[in-house]
Amino acid sequence: MPVVPLASPAQPGAAHAPALAGSATPESMARYYAQRAAYYERVYFKPERQADLRQMEAWVARQFSGRRVLEIACGTGWWTAHGAARAAHWRATDLNPETMALAQAKPMPAGIVQFQTVDAYSLSELQDETFDAAFAGFWWSHVALQRLPGWLSALHDRLADGAEVVMLDNRFVAGSSTPISRIDAEGNSYQQRALDDGSRQEVLKNFPSAEQAFAVLGPRARDPQWLAFEHYWILHYRLGTR
Ligand SMILES: C[S@@+](CC[C@H](N)C(=O)[O-])C[C@H]1O[C@@H](n2cnc3c(N)ncnc32)[C@H](O)[C@@H]1O
Repeated sequence: MPVVPLASPAQPGAAHAPALAGSATPESMARYYAQRAAYYERVYFKPERQADLRQMEAWVARQFSGRRVLEIACGTGWWTAHGAARAAHWRATDLNPETMALAQAKPMPAGIVQFQTVDAYSLSELQDETFDAAFAGFWWSHVALQRLPGWLSALHDRLADGAEVVMLDNRFVAGSSTPISRIDAEGNSYQQRALDDGSRQEVLKNFPSAEQAFAVLGPRARDPQWLAFEHYWILHYRLGTR
């Protein structure tokens, strides 16, 4: 597996370096998505992204056949309906009631999808539950580089041997992606995004290469695969024994 230099791993829940006023923090990111919930899905209607999205939706629908899936940060549930199509059970989780309410209002595979308020970093609301698959759409990019190994390890602790793990997220495409406004000392990149009320919010948004992603997966990850689309990537792997 290729290895690239990374910032030192941090524990889940570890404090971030002091942020400048208006800078992105995990709390400000959660608030930003609550404020944006009603119009979040505009991003799925960008014309140049439609071909990629149709291919990815079909791929995701095939990937979880018969599995008990934990979805991290489900948002408005765009991927929930696709992913759950053939799953045995799909637990769609998010921190924000504003986003999950929109997901819950959508048609979902009957008897399969269950929603739960869960903090993706602690996963504590899941108590001692485990799953045999995990999915996270557009979450990886929002996790600070120094926090990724700890977050992945906490996620893997919830997953059985042989579990299927799928992450998908954006590639940076000039002219389609919001420009990067700064890069911090750890190598995290940020964007300045506008909300409909005219306010601006700094958002942490990383654009990893396959090599950078593979390097942080930890010792249980087996056979990682990277599917590169024009605007997106999909990372998937299986988990080995503990
Ligand atoms: C970029 S959106 C992704 C939504 C959805 N997965 C999708 O692909 O359309 C990020 C989501 O993370 C959620 N979120 C932010 N902080 C969170 C946290 N600490 N725990 C769980 N969800 C969180 C937001 O409410 C938002 O729905």
